[in-house]
Parts: sequence; C-alpha cells; structure tokens
Amino acid sequence: MSQKNNTVDVANLLETDSERRKRFSTLDGGWRLDYAGVPLTRAAREGLLGLTDSTDLAEAVRALFSAAIVNPSENQPALHMSLRAATPDPDLIDQRGRFLDLADDLHAGRQGLTDVLHIGIGGSDLGPRLVADALDAFDGHARVHWLSTMDGRRFEQLTRQLDPSRTGLVVASKSFGTEETLTLARAARAWMGDGFTERSWASTARRDRAVEFGMAPERVLEFPGWVGGRFSLWSSVGVSAAAVIGRARFEQMLAGARQADRRFREHPDARSLAVMLALLMHYLRRGLDLPTLGVVSYEPRLALLGDYLQQLIMESLGKGVDRNDRPVDQPTAPLIFGGRGTDLQHSIFQALHQGPETHPLLLVGSLADDHAYPEWHRAQLSHLLAQARALTQGRSDGAAFQRLPGNRPVALLLTERLTPEGLGYLLASFEHAVYALAVFWGINAFDQWGVEEGKRLAAQIRQRLDRAPASLENLTVEP
Ligand code: F6P
Repeated sequence: MSQKNNTVDVANLLETDSERRKRFSTLDGGWRLDYAGVPLTRAAREGLLGLTDSTDLAEAVRALFSAAIVNPSENQPALHMSLRAATPDPDLIDQRGRFLDLADDLHAGRQGLTDVLHIGIGGSDLGPRLVADALDAFDGHARVHWLSTMDGRRFEQLTRQLDPSRTGLVVASKSFGTEETLTLARAARAWMGDGFTERSWASTARRDRAVEFGMAPERVLEFPGWVGGRFSLWSSVGVSAAAVIGRARFEQMLAGARQADRRFREHPDARSLAVMLALLMHYLRRGLDLPTLGVVSYEPRLALLGDYLQQLIMESLGKGVDRNDRPVDQPTAPLIFGGRGTDLQHSIFQALHQGPETHPLLLVGSLADDHAYPEWHRAQLSHLLAQARALTQGRSDGAAFQRLPGNRPVALLLTERLTPEGLGYLLASFEHAVYALAVFWGINAFDQWGVEEGKRLAAQIRQRLDRAPASLENLTVEP
C-alpha cells in the first residue's frame, strides 16, 4: 500500500521551516510527542486539530467519566479510571488494598515463595508483563514466570526447574472461562498437589467460577465486571507485576495514570498527550491511508510496548460497524507491529527504508537510565535519532541501490527517563487515545465480538479431534 494521499515532502518542510520541530510537538506528562517527521502541512494540522470539536470529544469525555454507557453492545460503562482513582468507592479501596498487600508480601519474600506462575492471556498478560519488565528494580524476592498460551514444552520445562512447594500461582482471568488460561491452571493445580489451595490466587471478575475451580474464597482477588480485559492492568490483574516491582512503584504508576486521567478530562484537546496521539493515529490511518503502524522502542524497558498496544489498539478499534450497527465506510485499526529498535534495525528496517511500501513508525526512547552502562543508553538514543533522520530525509547521493527515498512518516515519543509515574501516564494516555479515536470514528472501543467466533468453532473442532485424531490427509476446517 502506498501513501496514496500524501503529496507532502516532509524533508522539504523540515529544511525550510526552522520552527517545525517546536511547533509540531506536544510536551505533556513528561513525554514529548514530536510529529515533525510526519508529512503534514501547517494548514492540514489546523484541520486535524479541529476534529476534536467537530466530533464533540469534550462531551464524549464527559460521558466516559460520568459512567454513561460507552459500550452499547454490552450495555456497560467503562470505568477503569476509577481503579486508579485517589479515593474510589470503598469496595474498590478494599480490592486494591488486598492485591497490593499480597504483592507486597511476595515482593518482600514474606510468603516464603521463590517463584510465582502468572497464568493469563490477552489483557490478563500483556499489561502486567510490560510493567514488570519496564520497572523491575531487581529487588523483589519472588521471580514471576508468565504463561499465556498452551505451550506444553514450556510448561514442562518450567515445572521441571521449579519447586512446587516454593511456587505460588496467580490465575488472572476476568471471565475465568478462557480456554488457554484454564488449561494451564488445571495443569498447575495438578503439579502443585496439596499446596495448590494455600498458594494460589485468582484475579477475576467471576468469583463464583474461581471458587468452583478450587480457589480458596479468601484468595480470590476480585475486580468489577465493567473493567475491560485490555484495560485491567490497574486492577488485581496487576498483582504479579506489583510483586515484581514492589507496591510503592505500582502505586506511583497508578498516580501517574491518575494524572493522565485528569489531563484528558480537563483538556480533551491537543494539549493532552492522549488526544495528540489519537489525532496522529487518525491522520496516519485515514489522512494518509496507511494500514500499519510500527511501535519501535529504543528504551529497552519498553520492549513490550508494541505487544501491549497491539491488543489495546487492534482489539479496541478493529471494528467494521459503528456504534449504531451500521457499516463503517472508512478504515479503522491499523495493524500494529513493534519491538526493540536496534533488533528491528537488523531485521525489518531494510524494508522500511527502501521497500516500495510505507509503514509509519512511532519511535520511543528516553534520554537516560540508571544502570551500570549509561553509554549504552546514549547509543540507543543515537540510533533512534539516526533512524528518524534517514526515514524522513532519506539519502539522495550514491548509486540507485544506495539511495533512500525518505518521506516515511516518523513520530518520536521521548521522556527524560522512564519512571513509574511516567509509565502510568503513558499507558493511561494510550487508553484515552483509543477512546478518542473511537469517538472520531463513531465506533465502540470496548467490545470484541470478532474474537468470539474462533473460540466457538475451536471448541467444536476440538471435540471432533478428541474423537478421531487428525492425520495430515484428513484434516479439514469443518466444525
Ligand atoms: O481475546 C479476547 C479476550 O477476551 C481479551 O479481551 C481478554 O483480554 C482476553 O481474552 C483474556 O480474557 P480473560 O481475562 O477473561 O481470561
């Protein structure tokens, strides 16, 4: 797919407008979003900013924060912001206190556990794993092992290495009905033997199902059903992440997210990072008609950001009908891909620089980190900036095979150094960006009916496979 709508030469704009980098960037919550490298003129930018008014984003934000039904297909509000509120209602305070107490115990080694198996998939895995990876200060006692899909080899390998009498289990599942999670949880229950009851916890909105599974009622860490799976990081689904990073850092992350909530609520316009991210993604998808977006991290702590955003953005915005069930006639979610910057430079970047198709990129980085190799961090940053330069400005000298066309849309997302508050601010801002995009596009960001059909069919096919094992010759997709 080419940038069929793009007639703008960004290299020229960058050379002729010395103010462009300053003008085409937003500084908010400790993050600078710089979109000077996106083919967008000043006039087009003015038009883009007007989208918040023409779609009445302010009213939609009021609806979100006042518990209106923003998920019409499931008749639900979306109140994940109250999970991180300073003074939520007493039930939420109680739920938060219980899972943070447990995390504190695990972090400090008070449960006598050396390891924890965290079993969960989708939103019950991606957010917590990202946070644990990003903010681990290597000062916790329990090592957390993340299991999401039915990978028998990995389960066997892990359980051979671990001591069941010193290993805890967290089963994270909003529905407590997800096949992958329950399959793994049953295997873990069998492996743990008698210790299962006293060393297992469930993070779920379905206490009844967790207890029926065999979880001790006092070890069920509940959260409300109105929390969407991909917005559940802030609930007890985050318990294993909090066990890794410690209670204090998890609370700082909640505080950062809370600030992003306030910002979005008070400024549902281009001053807030969330809205600017949404406007940028809108322009790339609908303005330039680009069907992909790469999230490339030069801050190693955010290696998993692309995976996390893949679910958040694609499961929320990959919709073909609007909120009134009418077909949408314009593109919706881009295909999100991502990973670590310099790794990707040695795999996919050749195609990004010289391939005939255009893939816009969000390059994520920070200026410093507190580890023993600060110069490595500077090297990361130099690569980020070099790629931004080459992708946007290209190279015009040398033989044809050495030239780079440039004009590839690149935005930079930078912070001084990644803190728990900063990460909370960033993730909450992406959540709100998804909501803002759903408002711009008139769709429901909070359901995911498309994934249900596959689950239904797999259950039927599984019955057939159990009755008569498949051979390569007789394999069919019939239920
Ligand atoms: O992929 C569908 C989905 O329902 C996601 O929305 C969710 O995050 C994931 O499955 C896991 O669901 P649960 O937490 O209920 O096990």
